[in-house]
Amino acid sequence: MNGLTIRPATPGDAAAITAVHCSHIRVWRRGGKGEAVPYDALSPYEQWLHGGPWMNAGTCAAYLRRWLGAGHLALVALRGDEVVGEAEFVEDEEPPPYGHVLHLSLLFVHAAHQGEGVGRALVEAGVELARERGCAALTTQPEREAEPFYRRVGFEPWLWLREWQAPAQEAPLPADLRRADDAPYPAGQGLALRVGRYQTGRHMWHEIADRPLPELARLPWGRWQARMPGGETVWLGLRAQPLAPTQADGFVWAPPEADLRPAVETLQALAARLGFAYVDLLLEEPEGGTLAAALGLEFQTDLTLWRRQTIGR
Ligand SMILES: CC(C)(COP(=O)(O)OP(=O)(O)OC[C@H]1O[C@@H](n2cnc3c(N)ncnc32)[C@H](O)[C@@H]1OP(=O)(O)O)[C@@H](O)C(=O)NCCC(=O)NCCS
Repeated sequence: MNGLTIRPATPGDAAAITAVHCSHIRVWRRGGKGEAVPYDALSPYEQWLHGGPWMNAGTCAAYLRRWLGAGHLALVALRGDEVVGEAEFVEDEEPPPYGHVLHLSLLFVHAAHQGEGVGRALVEAGVELARERGCAALTTQPEREAEPFYRRVGFEPWLWLREWQAPAQEAPLPADLRRADDAPYPAGQGLALRVGRYQTGRHMWHEIADRPLPELARLPWGRWQARMPGGETVWLGLRAQPLAPTQADGFVWAPPEADLRPAVETLQALAARLGFAYVDLLLEEPEGGTLAAALGLEFQTDLTLWRRQTIGR
């Protein structure tokens, strides 16, 4: 395959995977957004702020151990002995329209090896994994600049999402609200991630609780279970944005038919209790736009979920 080998990644690949990710950072900055400084002058947390656990070989190795230990998948592409690309996948099953999919949560090719077919080879390997697992599609949430690539390798835009900003707002909380930071992912309960779909439901459930550095552990977050006025049980999540810690990302795992408005208002109230000023809400169109108009939310950005069908084609 084009002189490339694809194999499962192991924590022993961490330094090489870090080199792939770091190849895309042109300037390293103090605190993630301050003055330009050399990479080695930054703490692991400051390196993290440039793109997550992959930015440092130590945090990357620990992350890969957790990722693979949770049953998720990671592949590396090698040219000879050199790791030139990495892809990560989560298998998930949520009610329609999401279904049983393999989700490509990350794809990076070393800057010195872009345009050599590495990305395509990792996507094709992902399609094979999806078929082996009986997944109906490979899905992903591309950066805007990567969309032409995904179109080239067989993906189509599928669901449209918009991020809105809501003010934190003091309000009474539902009587039976229960804090549930340690609860396991409520798989098989007919819940879909309907707010905060940056990745799939299972992925975001784990990601908001993943705080492996002291600076991350200090940032406010939480997960809750609550019964909505319509009688449905929903799960809510909030986590601080590391580069703007007065802002939270908000999450709602709920049945597809549940009215989102009371869940969003509860998130606004919880955000106020945790000391946030704002909560960002990624909602699917068109229901998100209707809710945003009713609540007066401020538009932030557009995102698109893409899919490539893997079965029946
Ligand atoms: C986007 C990325 C994964 C593509 O990987 P790659 O190895 O450079 O791409 P490939 O060489 O496999 O390209 C496959 C096809 O897509 C096309 N393509 C790749 N990047 C493209 C772009 N930016 N615009 C248009 N077409 C593009 C190639 O021309 C090729 O077409 P062809 O096979 O029909 O000739 C890689 O450039 C990358 O890691 N970018 C930075 C990180 C990133 O954006 N990751 C994705 C986050 S969602």
